[in-house]
Amino acid sequence: MIIGVFDSGKGGKIVAERLRKIFPEHQFLVVDDHKHLPYGNKTAKEITELTSAAIQPLLTQAKIIIIACNTATAAAIDYLREKYPKHQFIGFEPAIKPAVSETKAAKIMVLATPATLKSTKYLTLKKRFAADVTVVEPDCSTWAEKIENDKFDEIIDLAPVINAARCEKVDEVVLGCTHYLAIENDLRKKLSPNIKIIEPIAAVARRLDEIIHGLC
Ligand code: DGL
Repeated sequence: MIIGVFDSGKGGKIVAERLRKIFPEHQFLVVDDHKHLPYGNKTAKEITELTSAAIQPLLTQAKIIIIACNTATAAAIDYLREKYPKHQFIGFEPAIKPAVSETKAAKIMVLATPATLKSTKYLTLKKRFAADVTVVEPDCSTWAEKIENDKFDEIIDLAPVINAARCEKVDEVVLGCTHYLAIENDLRKKLSPNIKIIEPIAAVARRLDEIIHGLC
């Protein structure tokens, strides 16, 4: 089966690479919108229009489309589900629910774009699952573009985030942007070993498996 994967940039390739290992029998077709990146500094309306335009090549070839972008999911997935009811869309959301409910964390850090952090979807998620938890949201507004352009080694200074995680005594760090999967290992090395990093692939793979089986 052909499965479509969309992200504004290289987050989609990273997600597809990880999913190919879990689902070697399926084909993952990746489309991005590098020209308009970063989505994370745009309005919800702009993100919705851009996402809808960018996924057009996927719609003709795939029944299942993974919006491998937290920012585009927050802004556009409801619109896409309504506009293309014959397709199944799987979104990416900051994994606040598993971070809080499965691990009983008292303080979490969410790394995400500004557009994700101010979206209604994210605020609702936080209200629902993290009402009794402190959520630290450091400024990552320049990260996606730097990662996209392979400049993260020299330019992204992880020290403020690592220090904040230590000083605030966070229990877990949620990767709420697929671009940040590119620096997951770096973060893991620099964060204290008792801070858990929550990444989204396992949850998305579970959902994808359910949908594939539903269609077969
Ligand atoms: N990879 C996208 C996400 O997961 C964001 C990148 C961007 O700002 O364009 O949110």
